[in-house]
Amino acid sequence: MNYLIETIGCQMNMCESDVLSSVFSAYGASKVSSLSDADVAILNTCSVRAQAEQKAFSYLGRIKEFKQKNPDIKVVVIGCMAERLGSKIKKRFNSVDLIIGAKDIDNAALRIMDLFHMSDFAKKVNSEIKSEVTRYVTIMKGCDNYCSYCTVPFVRGKEISVNFEKIVNKCSSMVKNGAREITLLGQNVNSYKYEDVNFAALIKKVATIENLKRIRFMTNHPKDLSDDLIKIMATEPKVCSHIHLPMQSASDKILKAMNRKYSHEHYLKLIKKLRAAIPAISVTTDIIVGFPGETDEDFEDTLEAVKTIKFDGLYVFKYSPRPNTKASGMIDDVPLQEKKRRHAVILEEANKISIEIVSEIIGSTQQVLVEKIKNGIIKARTRGGRKVFAKGDKEEYLGKHINVNIKEAKVNSLFGNII
Ligand code: SAH
Ligand code: SF4
Ligand code: F3S
Repeated sequence: MNYLIETIGCQMNMCESDVLSSVFSAYGASKVSSLSDADVAILNTCSVRAQAEQKAFSYLGRIKEFKQKNPDIKVVVIGCMAERLGSKIKKRFNSVDLIIGAKDIDNAALRIMDLFHMSDFAKKVNSEIKSEVTRYVTIMKGCDNYCSYCTVPFVRGKEISVNFEKIVNKCSSMVKNGAREITLLGQNVNSYKYEDVNFAALIKKVATIENLKRIRFMTNHPKDLSDDLIKIMATEPKVCSHIHLPMQSASDKILKAMNRKYSHEHYLKLIKKLRAAIPAISVTTDIIVGFPGETDEDFEDTLEAVKTIKFDGLYVFKYSPRPNTKASGMIDDVPLQEKKRRHAVILEEANKISIEIVSEIIGSTQQVLVEKIKNGIIKARTRGGRKVFAKGDKEEYLGKHINVNIKEAKVNSLFGNII
């Protein structure tokens, strides 16, 4: 089975696509990168904004055309949009053979291989699959927060924490196969709880894995960020000094309408605490502009917060009404033109701040973990999560910490020399 896999959406989807790939390869299937080489095209979808769904539809449109001339190719749609729309996708695209929603993702590999009667084959004994240096591990599924704009609780279901023993075993086996950095994933990782193990305790357990060098995690909800977690970030050297802490808005009126359950003051306090405990911490965030009822004043509050907090990175989204969510019943009263303007204003400000921040990194020495080496260039990452490139081709650097003196800095990448 030659398979093509295309992934839209968040790290959770990326992670699930990777899991599929590793099961397929254990059964001897090969990943290909063009439709003409594929026996099956798999599309892993996202529903978080209308745009993400449009992207999937236009991809399916292209595949439909291809299938008219190549009727043997199988088409599989998985993930969040498959969950949300189910058989409606098939009605619109009869070229689709199989739909597997996000809640059934655990069965996806076998169901796809069944299309080729492959799951009857014996699994190859392939314990020596070499791992990438950086890997993702899902520690919880679903979300119970019901932020009023968000479709995730509907497409991913109730929040369930994975047994910590399973998580630690999975991480250990990845590390045995070469992984050196693990990102613990969940929609709201800091509310992790399995029996009496909370998120900070889970990190402690993962940190005991020998040869694991770095731990990252995402995403965090400001309402659940505990002092315990801040403490472990400050004291456990394997935990990277980066936190993604979505602010969404700085207007209390909008935060309330979003059902975020924290005030802007609380958010600011968290940032203060984090920066006091971990001086080198890099803080990134998500912002939504044009939520129903967002006035110029509300927006200015958010812009002001962006200016004062000086995030190391941010993602800004134009509010997109999602069916079934509470906010979809509110009047989407900010015109698209205005959403675009607010989006552009935040981006411009964020860019200015990024340039300021990265220019301060020039001349410094950064400890980086080498993730890839290709054509004489090393690709690595700082503890804060910035990409670093340097000349070097020694295979032995792979998965190691090295020091790089930064010579040049752009918003999304740093360049330097290995010391
Ligand atoms: N669980 C994570 C991420 C959820 S989706 C969290 O709570 O942070 C990632 C981001 O998409 C959100 O943080 C939010 O900024 C944005 N988003 C979610 N729903 C949206 C919508 N309907 N319109 C615009 N942006 C949205
Ligand atoms: Fe969506 Fe809120 Fe859950 Fe994040 S915490 S996934 S924004 S409902
Ligand atoms: Fe992720 Fe999109 Fe689903 S953000 S959880 S892939 S709706």
